[in-house]
Amino acid sequence: MEETIKKITVFGGTGMLGRPVVRELVRAGYDVAAMVRDAGRAASKLPEKVALVEGDLASRKDIAAALNGADAVYLNLSTRPDVRKYEKFIAERDGLENVLAVAAQINSAAGSGSGAGVAGNRGPKDGSESSAGTKIVRDDRPAGPIKRVAAISSMVHRYQGTAGFRWWAFEIKQWAEKLLREADVPVTIFYPSSFMETLDKGGIMQGHRLMLVGKSRRPMHFIAGEDYGRMVAEAFRRHDGIDQFYDIQGPAAFTLDEAALEFVRNYRHGPLKITRVPMWLIKAMGAVNAEVNYLARIMEALNNYQEPEPDASVWKKLGHPRLTLAEYARRL
Ligand SMILES: NC(=O)c1ccc[n+]([C@@H]2O[C@H](COP(=O)([O-])OP(=O)(O)OC[C@H]3O[C@@H](n4cnc5c(N)ncnc54)[C@H](OP(=O)(O)O)[C@@H]3O)[C@@H](O)[C@H]2O)c1
Repeated sequence: MEETIKKITVFGGTGMLGRPVVRELVRAGYDVAAMVRDAGRAASKLPEKVALVEGDLASRKDIAAALNGADAVYLNLSTRPDVRKYEKFIAERDGLENVLAVAAQINSAAGSGSGAGVAGNRGPKDGSESSAGTKIVRDDRPAGPIKRVAAISSMVHRYQGTAGFRWWAFEIKQWAEKLLREADVPVTIFYPSSFMETLDKGGIMQGHRLMLVGKSRRPMHFIAGEDYGRMVAEAFRRHDGIDQFYDIQGPAAFTLDEAALEFVRNYRHGPLKITRVPMWLIKAMGAVNAEVNYLARIMEALNNYQEPEPDASVWKKLGHPRLTLAEYARRL
């Protein structure tokens, strides 16, 4: 029987989807630390019980300080729309590589497994230390080993290669998945469908409008961050020393158009209008603006990706999602 996981360090905990996971990990009784770039700003976003360690994913020293005494890691990393393809440091790629390398070092020092960690490790980059320095708020925990590394991926990135679709941001997700699968530590990878949060916090809501791009052809099983967080907490509880892969889907399927209508019907803070923007327009604007191009690419994938039916065994293991889209919108 594997030892239970008690102390989890989260990277990307202040993100849109990191916050509900951190809340649910705390609610489930884990001792949670979060490495954040700005502790002052993070304090208002995360529960008081969370130990904040200031640092940057570009610095392995910062990561090591944040992993001090952790049993496990949860990664909520992204490639944001303002990130450019050729940037030297991309959190979802290089941050992940750094975390896995440090976890491997900790495990090898703690004499657990081979600790080799990362295949094809490109090593630290120039100037990788945080200029801000590291503020360690919690340093009373014994050293490792790290028993599990869990990370959010996505379901829609499987659209890559369909109908000639290729996108560098999905290549990063494929690469991250490969790195995790090859890591010499048990991993959990979550592949969620679309989150309900994207409707109000993910750029679709602009003032009192929901902006929909192109024609959404395929239903998606929207999931609430809170339900996902509960599933992540349960997955850590079920730690068994082997790799785990979970498709994460919510209780009901909607195309984005149907989801927007359901959201508008149940949203209580004033009337919302739905505005449809043709894909050709966004693609044309995307030719001169990289952020709009990012929007065109993600929407093309979301509008056309055919999700699998929910896997009942995942709900049985990790818990049935409770929040409907209507309830989610009503609660805001
Ligand atoms: N939206 C969906 O429906 C959906 C569905 C499935 C999967 N996903 C995936 O979920 C993942 C997370 O999404 P999200 O919206 O939560 O992302 P997000 O809001 O962009 O969060 C990213 C987090 O990473 C942190 N971070 C970035 N660079 C860092 C650095 N150099 N050092 C330390 N921390 C750094 C950010 O910290 P700061 O607060 O300091 O910026 C933030 O906490 C993405 O990979 C996305 O593709 C999304």
